[in-house]
Amino acid sequence: MAAGYGGPENLRVEEFEVGEPGSGQLRISVRGVGVNAYDAKVYATPGDPARLPMPLGSEAAGVITAVGRDVAGWSEGDEVIAFRTSGAYASDLMVAVHALTAKPPSLGWPEAGALMLTGAAAWHSLESTRTREGDTVLVHGAAGGVGLMAVQLARLRGARVIGTTSPRNDDLLRGLGVEPVAYGDGLLERVRSLAPEGVDVALDLVGTDEAMDVSLALVADRMRIATIANFARAPREGVLLLGNGPGADPGVEVRDAARPELARLAGDGSLRVFVRSTYPLDDAADAHRQILTGHTTGKLVLLP
Ligand SMILES: NC(=O)c1ccc[n+]([C@@H]2O[C@H](COP(=O)([O-])OP(=O)(O)OC[C@H]3O[C@@H](n4cnc5c(N)ncnc54)[C@H](OP(=O)(O)O)[C@@H]3O)[C@@H](O)[C@H]2O)c1
Repeated sequence: MAAGYGGPENLRVEEFEVGEPGSGQLRISVRGVGVNAYDAKVYATPGDPARLPMPLGSEAAGVITAVGRDVAGWSEGDEVIAFRTSGAYASDLMVAVHALTAKPPSLGWPEAGALMLTGAAAWHSLESTRTREGDTVLVHGAAGGVGLMAVQLARLRGARVIGTTSPRNDDLLRGLGVEPVAYGDGLLERVRSLAPEGVDVALDLVGTDEAMDVSLALVADRMRIATIANFARAPREGVLLLGNGPGADPGVEVRDAARPELARLAGDGSLRVFVRSTYPLDDAADAHRQILTGHTTGKLVLLP
């Protein structure tokens, strides 16, 4: 948890009793926790001291160790994914029954813990832009946590995908059927030469002015441009703004409906979770230092 506002040096591991689950709750023994950019941003700027110490983490995978009253369909020993939950940076975690999805047996613990948050955000961006077979989709930040989910899900919908990245990720993206293009000066011209017939959909998963400007220049229909990161410009540009924040569509129903689909696709191997690094829970600060670089490929995972 974050014991203070500021950088990752404020993270602490604290011992406390999780207790027994109440009505509609279950306890899980956590085996993998997805690290997300939000986890490092939520305590970065000074806020209400009453929120400290602040539990962190919204997704985890683990084994059910206790089942509360009024919970049907789950038993001790079941392997599950919990999302959206809070305080997921933990060895034992109390979750509400509605946060659970069955973990596919074929999926490893790190991959299961890191599947849902970025998967659901990517799913929402494709649903909201009505991405479908035959579309040409430009994905800004294609090799990040959300990006690698978005490009695979877009390919599964039958779209052609062009993804912006730094060149070290070119081969990874090509292996997923994505055409990589370097971000930075000249991006618009590079995309135009790859897709002279035009781009139907743009997903900004980065939040830079460049991503917004290039998307606006290439995609005629602003309801087919979505950003999950540019909260400053999206409202005045009239593009879709997705997520939690002022003026954004949280897409709770869409994201909840995505969970069984994401589990199914990850379970049958058609959707891969790329885990870049794992860290012991005690080293969560190192994971936050890495995610704060803004240049992480795939996902980071904590292992309690
Ligand atoms: N609204 C929502 O629902 C929601 C949900 C999840 C995440 N987010 C936000 O979305 C953003 C991305 O999340 P994430 O989990 O994918 O982050 P991430 O894993 O840290 O990935 C960041 C990606 O951005 C790329 N990148 C960095 N600078 C870039 C630039 N100037 N132009 C193009 N790409 C650039 C990096 O590529 P290289 O390594 O190749 O440089 C990296 O692949 C974060 O701001 C996060 O807070 C929002």
